[in-house]
Amino acid sequence: MSDLRPDRPRILYGRRRGKALRKGQRHAIEDIFPAIRVPLERDTVDLEKLFDHQTSKFWLEIGFGAGEHLAWQADHNPDVGIIGCEPFLNGGATLIGNLEKNGSSNVRLHNEAAELLMEKLPEASIHKGFLLFADPWPKSSHHKRRFVSEKNIQALARILSDGAELRIGTDHTDYGAWILWHMLRSDDFVWQAEKPRDWRVRSDDWPQTRYEAKALREGRQSVYYRFIRKNRKI
Ligand SMILES: C[S@@+](CC[C@H](N)C(=O)[O-])C[C@H]1O[C@@H](n2cnc3c(N)ncnc32)[C@H](O)[C@@H]1O
Repeated sequence: MSDLRPDRPRILYGRRRGKALRKGQRHAIEDIFPAIRVPLERDTVDLEKLFDHQTSKFWLEIGFGAGEHLAWQADHNPDVGIIGCEPFLNGGATLIGNLEKNGSSNVRLHNEAAELLMEKLPEASIHKGFLLFADPWPKSSHHKRRFVSEKNIQALARILSDGAELRIGTDHTDYGAWILWHMLRSDDFVWQAEKPRDWRVRSDDWPQTRYEAKALREGRQSVYYRFIRKNRKI
């Protein structure tokens, strides 16, 4: 499936491929990925049938990059079914290798824009969401490419269950302000912060990602926002 269908606006801007895949990475994409891919052929993804183990807890990570955070969460939360979205193939291949190494079988992958998956997830079906160091698109002419937008916040509000946590991290000051501005305007989320430490310090169950490590090396302070999906009105 492609987001370049003529009947819909372009939604993916990043690269899909990097260096040529090594033999092990090719094996991951050609032989393992098809078995753990989230099928989008039907109107709705059946989460109960998606995972080998019986679970009613489902998490979603959008733009996992090389997947260090996702692999850690899968390893530490084997009872949860985690869906990872990442169109960059090399990243997916690296993650699959690490899942194999850890013996984690509780991850399913979507290798297209997350927007295409979100529209097929059932309402209130996701119990935790992660959007970590999404591309900041710093030029103002590119702001419309930013993942955090009114439309995507509405999509996240639809799929997240009441009380679900949404974690958003960034090292980009302007994008950080943009994220807060958009999230605070939403009627569906509450920001879980009372003091600066709450967004300046990452908790132990929020491992560092590759982009965060790079930001740190380059002297940029990151922020770690947590939002809670408000209860739906009955
Ligand atoms: C700056 S990287 C951060 C990767 C990782 N989360 C980290 O912190 O190391 C942003 C990632 O988001 C992915 N991405 C961009 N647009 C996306 C979309 N619409 N849906 C899913 N992933 C997307 C990119 O391919 C890229 O790997």
